[in-house]
Amino acid sequence: MTTVTEQIPLHEQVRSFVGAPRKMLIGGRWLDATSSKTFATYNPATGDILAQVAEGDRADVNRAVTAARIAFESGPWRRLTASERGRLVWKLADLMESHAEEFAQLESLDNGKPVGVARVADVPLAIDLFRYMAGWATKIEGNTIPISVPYTPGTQYLAYTLREPVGVVAQIIPWNFPLLMAAWKLGPALAAGCTVVLKPAEQTPLSALRLGELICEAGFPDGVVNIVPGFGETAGAALAAHPDVDKVAFTGSTEVGKLILGAAAGNLKKVSLELGGKSPNIVCKDADVEACIPGVAGAIFFNQGQCCCAGSRLFVEKSIFDKVVEGVAADAKKIKVGPGMDPATQMGPLVSDEQQRRVLGYLEAGLSEGAKAVVGGRKLGSKGYFVEPTVLVDTKQGMKVMQEEIFGPVVCAVPFTDLDEVLPMANDSIYGLAAAVWTRDIGKAHRIAAELRAGSVWINCYNIFDAALPFGGYKQSGWGREMGHDALELYTEVKAVTVRL
Ligand code: NAI
Ligand code: MG
Repeated sequence: MTTVTEQIPLHEQVRSFVGAPRKMLIGGRWLDATSSKTFATYNPATGDILAQVAEGDRADVNRAVTAARIAFESGPWRRLTASERGRLVWKLADLMESHAEEFAQLESLDNGKPVGVARVADVPLAIDLFRYMAGWATKIEGNTIPISVPYTPGTQYLAYTLREPVGVVAQIIPWNFPLLMAAWKLGPALAAGCTVVLKPAEQTPLSALRLGELICEAGFPDGVVNIVPGFGETAGAALAAHPDVDKVAFTGSTEVGKLILGAAAGNLKKVSLELGGKSPNIVCKDADVEACIPGVAGAIFFNQGQCCCAGSRLFVEKSIFDKVVEGVAADAKKIKVGPGMDPATQMGPLVSDEQQRRVLGYLEAGLSEGAKAVVGGRKLGSKGYFVEPTVLVDTKQGMKVMQEEIFGPVVCAVPFTDLDEVLPMANDSIYGLAAAVWTRDIGKAHRIAAELRAGSVWINCYNIFDAALPFGGYKQSGWGREMGHDALELYTEVKAVTVRL
């Protein structure tokens, strides 16, 4: 591991954006919090305050939900054609593209991720998601259904279904991919014709607020998208419990996902959840070992390990275990760790001091229970929230590091003898978000893919995402699928219409 310190110059607009306290977007206007309170968002590379942001709470959530309700029931949004809605979403994508560098820098500054990664992953993926969903606006269709109705013999009916927007949607998103998560949530909701109150994570509110400015510029009617930054226990909880919200979509911890579910019970709002993971990454002895080593390392170290689908449990067939572990450890040693705004940085800091403490706590627990660090295992530097890329061996199935989501650059490597041994181990988790298998045997690859209880399975690759591919979890990794056309189901209701002829 090396640390690097050169930093790219700040984009002029980013400088001015972080230079002034940021407000919240309600009903098309930028407002201070009702309480006038603000909170700080930090630069995780230094621990310094990056910007001040209006701190939304229950009162602001109430205002935002009212604005979203008015926009849904009586504003111009409802009267737009599907084509006009699609064009607005596409226009937003075009605007984002012309401000791509700003987004990459904001994302790097607020989250810590390497700006080079944000430029090629977060920002283009978010733009592409909006374009993909823009196309769906005109393709949300019902069916005509032949019905027989045995108790009205001789009567003819025409029956069809309509797919309608679910209504006012609350969207609560995390800090690991702040802009991309906003896109995953907003894209399908807007394509479907819903109105939204979005709450970004308190650690990373900036890119969503900048996106809000472009939403206004694109010409979305007032109140269609409202953005209320604030904390989970206040703004987030108020949104999840709000009686006039029709649906809540959440991405974050499984623990908070369960709280959301409880809060949603009051008015039985629809719920979709994208939660934690402890994804198994299985390397068979017939894999292309040279190709799989960087793949396996990337599966855990990408985004500092702060991915819900991170390949955090690495199962390697015994005869190649040492070779693969040594290869991944060698890759880990080569990773350039540093501030995200250094263009040479390959791994940035974790998002917050809290996340750094959480990850270091897991390392301590694992090492004290008998795991060994082949590489890494400690924090890095005295400033910022850096943690060394870490490979643990000698982990046992029951250990905390093998069962709980660490959400940091820490992989547990475990040898296995055959598929009968590894498949139950791979599925021995409360989670089921993603999984991968590396093998040249195509039949075996598909057999394993079918056995793994996970929403995404990658074969000879990892972390391959596309706006057209559904993503979501089995078991306690969540409810529902985001992206792809499955995402539209989260934001639409089906109405059956029957006409007597
Ligand atoms: P979190 O689940 O607390 O935060 C995610 C979002 O939920 C944030 O916007 C937060 O403000 C909001 N929130 C928190 N409490 C809430 C409540 N009671 N009601 C409504 N909204 C609430 O996650 P946190 O604490 O930042 O990270 C803890 C762990 O969660 C991580 O170590 C990781 O294991 C997991 N996580 C998983 C993510 C994923 O992509 N699936 C993303 C972020 C965290
Ligand atoms: Mg921050």
